[in-house]
Formats: sequence, structure tokens, C-alpha cells
Amino acid sequence: MTLRNRFLALLLVLVSNGMIGRSQSAPVVIRVDAAHPGASISPQMFGIFFEDINFAADGGLYPELVKNRSFEFSDPLTAWKEVMAFNERGIQNAKGELDIRTEDALNASNPHYLRVHAYEPGYGFYNAGFRGMGIESGAEYRFSAYVRASGPEMIRASVVDEKGNEIASGKLEGFNGKWQHYETVLRASATSAHARLNLYVEQKGDVDLDMVSLFPVETWNHRPNGLRKDIVQLLYDMHPGFIRFPGGCIVEGRELLNRYRWKTTVGDLAQRKSIMNRWNNEFDQKAAPDYFQSFGLGFYEYFQLAEDIGARPLPILNCGMACQFNSSETAKMDELQEYVQDALDLIEFANGPVTSPWGKLRADMGHPAPFHLEMIGVGNEQWGPRYVERYKVFAAALREKHPEIKLVAAAGPSPSGDLFESAWANWRELKPDLVDEHYYMPPEWFLDNTHRYDKYDRSGPKVFAGEYAAQTAGQANSGNRNNWRGAIAEAAFMTGLERNGDVVQMASYAPLLANTDAWQWTPDAIWFDSLRSYGTPNYYVQQIFASNTGTRLLSATPQAEGGLYTSATIDDGTRELIVRVINTTANARPAEIQTNATVASATANVIILQSTDLNAENSFEHPKAVAPVSSTAPVQSGTLSVQLAPYSVNVYRIPLSAAQ
Ligand code: AHR
Repeated sequence: MTLRNRFLALLLVLVSNGMIGRSQSAPVVIRVDAAHPGASISPQMFGIFFEDINFAADGGLYPELVKNRSFEFSDPLTAWKEVMAFNERGIQNAKGELDIRTEDALNASNPHYLRVHAYEPGYGFYNAGFRGMGIESGAEYRFSAYVRASGPEMIRASVVDEKGNEIASGKLEGFNGKWQHYETVLRASATSAHARLNLYVEQKGDVDLDMVSLFPVETWNHRPNGLRKDIVQLLYDMHPGFIRFPGGCIVEGRELLNRYRWKTTVGDLAQRKSIMNRWNNEFDQKAAPDYFQSFGLGFYEYFQLAEDIGARPLPILNCGMACQFNSSETAKMDELQEYVQDALDLIEFANGPVTSPWGKLRADMGHPAPFHLEMIGVGNEQWGPRYVERYKVFAAALREKHPEIKLVAAAGPSPSGDLFESAWANWRELKPDLVDEHYYMPPEWFLDNTHRYDKYDRSGPKVFAGEYAAQTAGQANSGNRNNWRGAIAEAAFMTGLERNGDVVQMASYAPLLANTDAWQWTPDAIWFDSLRSYGTPNYYVQQIFASNTGTRLLSATPQAEGGLYTSATIDDGTRELIVRVINTTANARPAEIQTNATVASATANVIILQSTDLNAENSFEHPKAVAPVSSTAPVQSGTLSVQLAPYSVNVYRIPLSAAQ
């Protein structure tokens, strides 16, 4: 390149970045045309993707404090140990032994149990929880277990803090020689982030135990076997249009044997069959041999969660294929009926009459009303001819029996390339309702792809951006950060999703949750420990978009120019224009938002999410370092004059007169 051409190229970059060619004090004019509203935008556009990765379910959203409560881990004594010969206070443990048994088990799905041989009264053992138990002062916890003991034994529960101080206690007693469920409520006198549950058999003899549980009484909506309140609150505050569950690769399993089977996750808790979590040993550097799935959070609880947070349920089902990054095991075509039947039965479980077998189970579990299931994903992140062959079998059965259910098919693991192209070629022909695209890409990719959907065929299947997140260090790289650099790039990209709301009908950031003490994958929208949780900047981007969607698309220009990205909608319900402007530059930018709409009130509501530091992150100590701030701004003669802060996501809600 000649020197002159290099100079011209540099000039072009600077101009297109808005860095020269326009005085920083000359306002950027953003025109919103309210006279020609476009297509409707899906009310469920922005939702959430839940997967049990990073201890998101057991050890997270599902607040059971006892790990391996049913003794069904590969090593059935995982998380259980004898109280030390001498405890921290020098008190000697009595003699005894822990023994795993299978004869006359509680039930066939739960074949192992613990036999405690107390050779002396007062023999003690404990459960360490999910890297410690989070206990809050003043809160109540239900201690329960199935117990089989013939004598007058008494089991004393003693919750102790990190230093061994007792902070809650209670007892179970009156056993009758048969398996029976016993429970009592303990109240904590102090807070501890890493407590443990000590259990003592107070008389000499044998005691059998299974489904040993310590569960907070206070859960979301006060439900027994409910979900952790602070985490559900964060989900609720996101205003998600839908919730995709249970994943992710967890749907597929590393092998078909540990695929997700929804039927083993519903009904009586003690009958739910635990299996290894496929993220248990996925990453050598983040091995978690103690990661299993109790399915205490199962499909009933997912549907209930969807209802609680006002999100439409989107279950993703195994299509007869294990993860293609792992074993890639595939069910033979003549074995597929079981998988298809699972899908048909799931529709009955969610929507069927209470007189139907699966509808009855839903009613027996406490929800006679239907869950209003409208869509199902066939397979997670599959690709290739084997997938298409299997999809066709599912589609034939589901279209015939349930034409009302929308089908989601996968576009493979990446947003471009041969697998992606050949998937779309098939889907254009086979016409699933939605095609699930995944992009775990660098922030720059998100900035460069805001026009990705402008050229998509308007008459083909719709798009579900089912998993995406800016990877600041590299895909599946444990150095990825939930920083503002990634989050603002996602926001810019989301204006492109929104502008193409006639094609892109659903989108969800992934993954959703991560336990700071036990994660495998980063970035994640929400981080938590045993007691606390916070939303990342990426979470707040999702929240802002999901809370300010609107109902019809409007044209806002320029769309993506000089580091500014825009989108606009009208909300026919609240009679507002909603304009989003993302400033991805380091400069403050004066802007004029001009509209031909008749503005009803002289004041617009403004929401700004901003940081001058692209490395900024939220944390337990500073959970709202990057969080939305609301204010108002005057609108004069159809123009809203604003200052776009450096690196900022801005939403303006401009009230309209009734007659637009
Ligand atoms: O979100 C983490 C994983 O990324 C999902 O389980 C999988 O679908 C994708 O590869």
C-alpha cells in the first residue's frame, strides 16, 4: 500500500469511528420514523438460557444444602465424613462406622442408603454441603430424612460454623423400624458462609438414612422444595420473555446414558434418579468430581419457575444424540421412538388434561392448570446428516399430533462455516419454526455483526439466537471476564437483533449462572456464592433490553455509524417510543433524537448503563458498579437533546399522544 493510500485508509477509519470529520460538539442526529411502523416485535424476544453448569442447579438455584443427599454419587460417601476423632473443641467422637447398603432400599431409583453403626452413643458424622453451606442468622431450615431404625434412637442435627460453633440444632426421633420420612425445623442463631451439618446418633445401634436434607424454609413463593430467593429475584428482575431449559450440552450428555431424561426428574423427590453431571469432568483445569444432578430442580420446577417469572417455557430435548464434542453416540433410527415419545409425553405433562396420565402427574404435583407449553427444541447444538435424519422423525410425529407446538432446530456450534451453512440449507427445506444459532465470539465480532440479519430471508424459518456471549479471552477460555467491554459489544449487537425483530424472534445470553466457588465456564450472566448473588454488566444489558422491548419496529437512522448503534420500537401498550442508542466510543457524544411522532408529555424516561472503564466488572463487594441509572429528560418540539456518555447504553422512553 502506498503512503497516500495508507493515509486515506486511516482517514476512512477515523471518519467512520466518528473521531474526526465532525466536531465533538456537533450533535449526532438520530431520526425515528414513527409514521411507518414495521413488523411486530415478539413480546418474548429476550429471554434466559438455564443450564446446570457451574453448579447452577444443585449448589445454586436449587437451595438444598446437603450434597449427595441420596448417597447415589459414584462414590456414595462423597461429601459425607465422620466427625473427627477429636473435634475443634477437643471433644472425642464416639465409636462408629459409616456403611453404604443396598438391601431393602428406599426405592429402585434410589438404591443406595447410609447405614450408621453407632457402637457407642453419640457417634457423629457430617455433610460438608456444596463447598460449604450458606446459613443465615434468624432463618429457618427444614432438616429431614428417611430413617429406618428399630430402637429408640435419636438423631441430633447440629449445624456448625467454620470454627465449629453450633449455630442451629434439632432432632429426629420416634422411629418405627420401617422407612419413614421425618422432619424438624431448625432456626439459625448466626450467619456462616461455610457451615456444615453434623449428625449424631445418640444411642448405640444401627440407623439407616436416605434423602438427608437441610433446606431453607424461605424460598421463592414460599414453596417447599422451592428455589433460592435472591437468585430467582435476579431472574424475575430481568423480565425474561422465555426460559430455555435444561441447557445446553447437558441435554445431550457425554454419552446417551447420561443424557437428560425429563421423566426421571418429575414426581416424588425420593424417586428422582440422580446422575453424574456432564460438566463434572469436562475441563481438566476445572474438574468437579462432586458434580451430580439430584433433579430436585426438575421439569415441574422449571415450568413453575417459568410461570413465576412470567417467561414462556422452552424445553430442549435430546434427539437421540449425545454431545458431538464428546462421544457423539447416536441412537439407532429404530431406537428413536422412545425419544419421540418423551417429547409427546412432555406436551401432555405440560398441557394435557388432568385426566391424562401425564396431566394427572402434573396435577398431583400441585398444578392442575396447564403450563401453556408452546415450543420445543429438538436437540441442542447438533449438526450433520445424522441430526437432520432424526429431526425429521421428531417433526413428523410432533407436527401430526401437535401442530400447535413450534419446533426449534439447531444450526450447530458456530455462527458461520460449512456446518452452519449446510444446517441452514436443510432448515430452509424442512422449515422448523425457529433455528437456534449459537455464537461465543470475541467482542469485536459482536460489533462487526450488527447487520448480520439484515439480509436473512424474511419468508424462511425464524431465528432463535439461543446461546451467545462475548468471549473476552477466547471461546471456553477460563480467562473470560464479565466486563464492560464484552457487555457493551453485546448491547450493540442486540440493536441489530431488535432491528431484525421480524426474523430474530428470540435471543438468550448463555450461560446464566455460576457459583464462584465451583464454576467450569465463564463468562456468565449472574454469579453467586453460598449466600450472595449479583448481576454482571452483561446481565444488566439483558435486563435493559428485555424490559424495554416495545411491540412494533420503527426505523431509526443512522443504524450503526461512527461507533454508535441504534434501534427503535413503539410500545402500543404504554404508548411510548423506545429508542436505544449504544455509544461504543470513548467520547461523550451530544445527540438529538428527532421524531415525527406527536409527543404527549414534555418528559422522556431515560435509562443509562455506563462505565468509562471497559474492564469494569461487578462483584459481591460492588454488585452495582455497572448498573442502570434512571432519570428524565425534556423533549422539545419532537426532539430529545442528550449527551451520550462514553461507552454507554442509553434507552429513551418517549410518551406519545394517544392518536398515533
Ligand atoms: O453454554 C455452555 C455450552 O456452550 C452449552 O452447554 C453448549 O450448548 C454450548 O456449546
